[in-house]
Parts: sequence; C-alpha cells; structure tokens
Amino acid sequence: MQELNHKLAEIKQEILDGMEQLESSKEVYEFKKSYLDSKKGKIGQLMKEMRNIAPENRAAYGKSVNELKEWATACFEELDVKLKAKELQQRYENEKIDITMPAVKKTKGNLHPITQVRNQLIDVFSSMGFEVFEGTEIETDYYNFTALNTPQDHPARDMQDTFYLSPEFLLRTQTSAGQIHVMENRKPPIKILSPGKVFRSDDDATHSPMFTQMEGLVVDKGITLCDLKGMLDVLVQKIYGEGTTTRLRPSYFPFTEPSVEVDCSCFACGGKGCKLCKGTGWIEVLGAGIVNKKVLENCGIDSEEYSGLAFGIGIERTAMLKYGINNIKLLFESDLRVLEQIDD
Ligand code: DAH
Repeated sequence: MQELNHKLAEIKQEILDGMEQLESSKEVYEFKKSYLDSKKGKIGQLMKEMRNIAPENRAAYGKSVNELKEWATACFEELDVKLKAKELQQRYENEKIDITMPAVKKTKGNLHPITQVRNQLIDVFSSMGFEVFEGTEIETDYYNFTALNTPQDHPARDMQDTFYLSPEFLLRTQTSAGQIHVMENRKPPIKILSPGKVFRSDDDATHSPMFTQMEGLVVDKGITLCDLKGMLDVLVQKIYGEGTTTRLRPSYFPFTEPSVEVDCSCFACGGKGCKLCKGTGWIEVLGAGIVNKKVLENCGIDSEEYSGLAFGIGIERTAMLKYGINNIKLLFESDLRVLEQIDD
C-alpha cells in the first residue's frame, strides 16, 4: 500500500513537471490523453492493478486513484482554458486589419478619349434605335462628293482640302460618304450611325490631317428639323450634362437643304458667357440638316414620299470640349500623363 502511495505521488509530480513544458492546448490534449486515457493512460492503467491489491485495501486504493484522476482532470482543464485564451488572443493579433493603411494602388488601363466619346455617342443613338454602319477610309470621288451633291466644279469642294490617291480614288474627307452606300442598299426607314476616320490636308491646334467623325442619317416618311432638334437635345444632355440645350443656325452644306450649324448652350457657364464660349453663351458642336432631295434621288429614294435628316459630328472636337483639351495633338501623342486623366 505504501509502495502504491509512493507511485501515486510520483505520477503527481510527473504531471506537475510535465505541465510546465506545455505551450499549446493541443499539447495539453496529448498530455492529458497519456494519463487519463482509460486503456493506455498511466492513471487509467492504475485501475487495472485493482486485481493485484488485497481485498481489504481495494476501497482505499480506488479512492486514491480516483482522487488523483480528479485532481489531474482539474489541472488539465485549468491549463487548457488558460492556453486557449492565449491562443485566441494571438489569433486576434495576427488577423488584425490596419484600416488606416494606404491601399495597394492597382493601375488599370482605360480607353482612349476618342474611343470613349465614340462609344458614348453610339450609346446615345443606339438607345434611339440607330444601327452602326462603318464605311471605308478609301472612297471614290463619287461617294465622297458627287453623290452628295458636290460635283467636280462645285465651289463647296474647296471647303475640304482633299488627299487624292488618283483622279477617281481619295481618302474620304467626311463620313457623309457612308450615307450614300446605305441609301443605295437599303429601303427607308433608315436610321444609321457611321463613325470613322476622315482625312483633310489641314493642320493646326484644332485641326489634324486625320481625325474622326460620326455621321447620323435618318430617312423615313415625314422627317423634319424638329426630329433633328429633339435627338440633338438628348445628345448634348448626355454628353455635356443635363440642362444643356441646342440652337440651330442657318448654314450651308451641299448635301442638306436647309443646312444648320448646331450650337449647344455653354456647359461651362450655363449660357452667361465665359472664355470657353467666347462670351456668347453658345458653342458650335456639329453640322446638320434635312437631306437634300437631290441626294435622295441620287440614291433612288423617292423624295416626294420620304425625307431625311443628317448630321456630322467631330469626335476630337467633342472630346476637346468635353475634357478641356486645348490642342488636338494631345489626342494623337499617346502621352499617358494626358490619357490617364480621362476616364469617363
Ligand atoms: N460632312 C460635314 C463636314 O465634314 C459635316 C456634316 C454637316 C455632316 C451636315 C452632315 C450634315 O451629315 O448634314 O463638315
């Protein structure tokens, strides 16, 4: 019996020493198992010794082993709670997020301003039912001029300095050339938008030998200038902001009659007069008109039955106005310091 008490004391000391080395709740679990596991644990095995104990000592023996077991269980429990709390604390520390830390800057590309404006214009008009027709950059004299009521000796040819490739072929000077292709190939109702590059021998701060236009054409029964104004009002509101309006000024283009120059109310000063609108309250944004009957007839469309409206808008000019760019070259130089600033 004495020998047994000695053994129990030994185990107790062993547990106390062992616990000092434990650093995690997982280690506590393993350590606990090595003592309390009913089959393999050291304390568990003590119970199996019962049969070797004299019957009169069995009750005392059982009591001692149980006391040791209860004591050990309480010790492990206490240590487990302590270490688990510490571990949780550590986890909180590790997972702590510093919300004041500056975010990692992700650089992303953006579309070229000309593409942005082109897409915005297409969005506006496709919501009104327009389809996109892209013509070709090399055109014949006929499509670029003659069919548009600008025959060879017409003075309006001087309005645009043309790059001729041969007497017959040229680099189109205007997307209006696309109107003819569409009207030759389709019956009204027609509602198309024709964006693309055009070319003129012209070069200064606001002109470039290559630039981009977007043509619009509607042909149907009873089309009037009112339809044009309604559409252009929507256009300038979407591009330059709510509250912007348009006014039509008489002008001249060979392919429209009447022809108009379209101004929008100055979006910088609201029409009061400022540097941008040169004190007038209005900014010229595009050319337009009612399709000349001769142009309809040139394409085999009965001008008694149908009428049309057309407009042509310069995309670089629109981008320059919208984003406050004062030199057209900035749009062709691919300087990222400029392009990065424009992301609509
Ligand atoms: N083609 C003209 C130009 O380049 C712009 C234009 C004016 C287009 C009136 C049109 C229009 O369709 O009706 O200057």
